[in-house]
Amino acid sequence: MGFSTTAIHAGNEPDATTGAVSVPIYQTSTYAQEAFGKPTGGYEYARTQNPTRAACERNVAALEGAQYGFAFASGMAAIDATLRLVKAGDHVIVSDNTYGGTYRLFTRILANYGIEFSFVDTSDPANVEAALKENTRMVYVETPTNPVMTVTDLRAVADIAHKHGARVVCDNTFMSPYLQRPLEFGVDIVLHSTTKYLNGHSDGVGGIVVLNNEQDAEWLKFVQNSVGAILAPFDSWLVLRGTKTLALRMEQHDKSGRAVAAFLEEHPKVQKLYYPGSLSHKQHELAKRQQRGFGGMVSFDVGSLENARKVLEGTKILTLAESLGAVESLISHPATMTHASVLPETRNRLGITDGLVRISVGLEDTEDIIADLDQALGKI
Ligand SMILES: Cc1ncc(COP(=O)(O)O)c(C=O)c1O
Repeated sequence: MGFSTTAIHAGNEPDATTGAVSVPIYQTSTYAQEAFGKPTGGYEYARTQNPTRAACERNVAALEGAQYGFAFASGMAAIDATLRLVKAGDHVIVSDNTYGGTYRLFTRILANYGIEFSFVDTSDPANVEAALKENTRMVYVETPTNPVMTVTDLRAVADIAHKHGARVVCDNTFMSPYLQRPLEFGVDIVLHSTTKYLNGHSDGVGGIVVLNNEQDAEWLKFVQNSVGAILAPFDSWLVLRGTKTLALRMEQHDKSGRAVAAFLEEHPKVQKLYYPGSLSHKQHELAKRQQRGFGGMVSFDVGSLENARKVLEGTKILTLAESLGAVESLISHPATMTHASVLPETRNRLGITDGLVRISVGLEDTEDIIADLDQALGKI
């Protein structure tokens, strides 16, 4: 079955009682039991099971080619639940340029519970191999990374990790399953902030984890119920609604993303462009092999905080805001916004300079987005 057919039908079966073609929002906290010790249709309590959430989980799992899915209250809650697969004394290798919130969760919270993290540049698989320790149980990658768009070779990293008996987790938020399906390259667990492309409309916060390993799935289900950071029924429904148009939206994000990147690359006020779709990106060939397209995330350096401020305050269509992956084009300043929790020296080493601007190219007309950036760059 094609991607859109799966997106529209997986988990979206007509409602068994009414035939409603749109999955009903089961806004309930509990379920009446048929008899003592006999829950109706297996439903007992809505933290444990909710039909709308289950439909959302089946849908996204199918899109990633996974058997199991677990939806959480945010992308961060999904990442936190996934890290519950490792224990005190275990070692985790992490891409050194992840979303700032991931870095914060790992270094400021989970490190306090005896989990050891090594941050390495996973765009060179040799760095992953070199960082392996006897107690390495997980390799956690983001590709392309946020915001400097380095690409990790998923197949190479999965082979290295598996030889060592470690799981590979990929945060696929930037690409969505339409542009990249990490499980096909040997990755074990894929997660998303559904807040971004899967929802796609800037109107819900959520996260999801999908995988094929039954034992790990059982544990994640146990964690989801025990910790309780579940995705609410309405937010689950918003993700279901979002994924129905994911293919169409990603095609347009990709088309405009390429056009915007090509425009920026030639602009005299832009000192450096970060976009894997550009021929000048040193991992362009790998990105082409691993991804179906390059998407709508584009970063560029205008040389100084002052210049960045002029662009960020100068756009009229691109909205100055955190987040990404929505119909609206958004513009942000990673050093002070998404990556403020990363130490300044680490930020500079990674290229997250004061002059770096990140845009999430939305679904407005491509020419309008480019004209808006052109006039804002003209203020420098
Ligand atoms: C790549 C990536 N992963 C995870 C997250 C966290 O997701 P959420 O904000 O839904 O908790 C974000 C948020 O920006 C992100 O960009």
